[in-house]
Amino acid sequence: MAIKSKTIYVCSSCGFEAAKWYGQCPGCGEWNSLTEKMKISGNSQNKSNITIESAYKLSEISHIKEHRYYTGISELDRVLGGGLVKGSIALISGDPGIGKSTILLQACENFGRQLSILYVSGEESPHQLKLRADRLKVSTGNLKIFCETDTERLCEYIKTEKPGLVIIDSIQTMSISEISSSAGSITQVRESASLLMRTAKYEDIPIIMVGHVNKDGNIAGPKVLEHIVDTVLYFEGERNLSYRILRAVKNRYGSTNEIGVFEMGENGLAEVPNPSLMLISGRPKNVPGSCVVCAMEGSRPILAEAQGLVTQTGFGTPRRMATGFDYNRLSMLIAVLEKRAGYFLGNMDCYVNIVGGLKIDEPAADLSVALALISSLKDAVIREDAIAFGEIGLAGEIRAVSTCEQRISEVLRLGFKRCVIPQNNMKNISNNAKNSLDIIGIKTIRDAFDAVSI
Ligand code: TYD
Ligand code: MG
Repeated sequence: MAIKSKTIYVCSSCGFEAAKWYGQCPGCGEWNSLTEKMKISGNSQNKSNITIESAYKLSEISHIKEHRYYTGISELDRVLGGGLVKGSIALISGDPGIGKSTILLQACENFGRQLSILYVSGEESPHQLKLRADRLKVSTGNLKIFCETDTERLCEYIKTEKPGLVIIDSIQTMSISEISSSAGSITQVRESASLLMRTAKYEDIPIIMVGHVNKDGNIAGPKVLEHIVDTVLYFEGERNLSYRILRAVKNRYGSTNEIGVFEMGENGLAEVPNPSLMLISGRPKNVPGSCVVCAMEGSRPILAEAQGLVTQTGFGTPRRMATGFDYNRLSMLIAVLEKRAGYFLGNMDCYVNIVGGLKIDEPAADLSVALALISSLKDAVIREDAIAFGEIGLAGEIRAVSTCEQRISEVLRLGFKRCVIPQNNMKNISNNAKNSLDIIGIKTIRDAFDAVSI
């Protein structure tokens, strides 16, 4: 193919490309940010270089088991898919103050036993990091702190020193001097990240990058950052609660949707080995509007408390609010409750809250949320030792859920006595489970409510 080049104008702030020059960037609204560039299209490679040998049969490619480094924090290792893979790039992201720097520094203690670490900090001074490391009891001799914000200088340092692992806290503080926009802008983040990645992949050095989130909850900087890295981890949690949930949203080396649960304390983040117990302890007793939900988080069933509150609307349109549960799903549930199950919520405000900062987006939680709302509407208490799960369809039917056996074993482990499940799941339940737990199969929302209410 012939090589074609044409002039384009690229915004130095957001990366917007235009065919002609504008005083104001149509992409981000920045003034005087468009600069002229040559865009080369076509294949510049000599055709004779491309031979049929450059494609491999899958069966001919030898199997290499990836080498992994362990963080020593089992919840973090789990989220990474069983440790950090050599040569991989991970991005860890979350709100400010949620604990990103803390968990990385804590992981350095065990990483330091396996390799040499370069901790690049553009946000904190070496003294601040030392103070924090003392508090976290991190005393590894294999950790070097490097306060550098110039990406090119950092890459040079990596090439000569060849550390075993590079931690970058954060990618938004890194910049390339040739690019005129300020550090943290989309172009800077994208270019710095790709330069670092090229260096790391070439040297086979794993990198962990911290990425800030912006107001919308997205990782600040281009979405392309999430596409090019191997693993993306999100730290979630309410700032005023001490619980933190680390979630893998992308992982080329393991399962996604695995979560790790932590608690922030005086000595940093501590693992919570039994999250279900933590999430359902402290439930109010004999109060309407509370029902336990069972959601699968990766390979683990997790129990949490779903709370519902239904009150008369003051005036105008009724309010609907959901915390930790999808708002649109709540609207659908309310519509089904009205039209198919005969619970009138049209002039009622409805609030749903999943306690503990957990975000549930599994259809199996539908039934518990609906039961919590009905319980509040009717002022009828749900049995403390009962739990329900099932997906609610638009016809008001309760549909089967996946991995029912695993959920039931968790329910048993936490000492519940009654478990209300979709009728269609009943055929797969072992006699053993049936003997130790009062398992009731139901087809409608009303049946479910009768089975769990006192
Ligand atoms: P940090 O890891 O600095 O957050 P990020 O890097 O995500 O911005 O966490 C800072 C918060 O954690 C801060 O509000 C104080 C709290 N914290 C503790 O409660 N205990 C501790 O031992 C540490 C190190 C931090
Ligand atoms: Mg930090």
